[in-house]
Amino acid sequence: ALCRLPPPSQTAMDGSGASGEAERPRHHPFLIGVSGGTASGKSTVCAKIMELLGQHMVDHRQRKVVIVSQDCFYKVLTPDQKAKALKGQYNFDHPEAFDTELMYQTLKDIAEGLVVEVPTYDFVTHSRLEDRITVYPADVVLFEGILVFYPQKVRDMFHMKLFVDTDSDVRLSRRVLRDMSRGRDLEQILGQYTTFVKPAFEEFCLPTKKYADVIIPRGVDNMVAINLIVQHIQDILNGDLCKWQRGSMNGQGRSLKRAIGEQSDLPNGAANLPGKRVLLEPSSRPH
Ligand SMILES: Nc1ncnc2c1ncn2[C@@H]1O[C@H](COP(=O)(O)OP(=O)(O)O)[C@@H](O)[C@H]1O
Ligand SMILES: [Mg+2]
Repeated sequence: ALCRLPPPSQTAMDGSGASGEAERPRHHPFLIGVSGGTASGKSTVCAKIMELLGQHMVDHRQRKVVIVSQDCFYKVLTPDQKAKALKGQYNFDHPEAFDTELMYQTLKDIAEGLVVEVPTYDFVTHSRLEDRITVYPADVVLFEGILVFYPQKVRDMFHMKLFVDTDSDVRLSRRVLRDMSRGRDLEQILGQYTTFVKPAFEEFCLPTKKYADVIIPRGVDNMVAINLIVQHIQDILNGDLCKWQRGSMNGQGRSLKRAIGEQSDLPNGAANLPGKRVLLEPSSRPH
């Protein structure tokens, strides 16, 4: 069963975070990074995982599983860059296109169990919108994007890393359909793809596949892989995620093994099965 969370009482952005809430124990979510090339099916896989965890129809404040997209962290473009973007001449697939620092800080706050505000981005005007999305603490946070494994400090925060591996011709054809439905013309879509999307995928995204714990061929069509992953997440949650503290990530100096050892006095016996301990190994080591 998923654990209960205290009602959120502050946002991560107002600076009251650590000091005001010092006495109340926070829940540290299980962070899953999901990467893969453009139109590989990252969002679809995340939605499926959420659905299978029984979370898709739940009110967003009650959710124990949330999805955050790297797309929200695109940098605000200058008028000059915006003009380029409208002509398909801006590289949205380069690591520089993302506000990595904001992404890192946001993920760090999420990892610490804070309420965070995520910017929203408009693909038509290529600008950050006034509206922000409030993300409430959850047990599982899926963070998806083409380059979520590229910056090491972001990559190192994930407890599980998934890479959706879909053939590039399948991705290109999906991408063309998606961009056309956004009102862009074929020539420009294909020009951008060959100039920026494909080279950046090969230079920046594909090399991060080696950091993945699980590679999912064919995305959501691969229900064997998705079911295995969901089962694994459920095992972790049933092992009493709420009591689970990660020392190495939040600088409290407690090792993961020790934190798990401390669960030995809990009534929940499942957490103490040797097999379960293996499931809680962090996954930040490159293979
Ligand atoms: N297995 C699949 N079969 C058919 N279409 C799919 C599949 N996975 C995703 N799609 C479609 O492909 C497009 C891109 O998928 P999406 O999940 O948004 O990819 P990403 O988030 O990696 O860009 C969407 O229109 C989606 O509905
Ligand atoms: Mg997506």
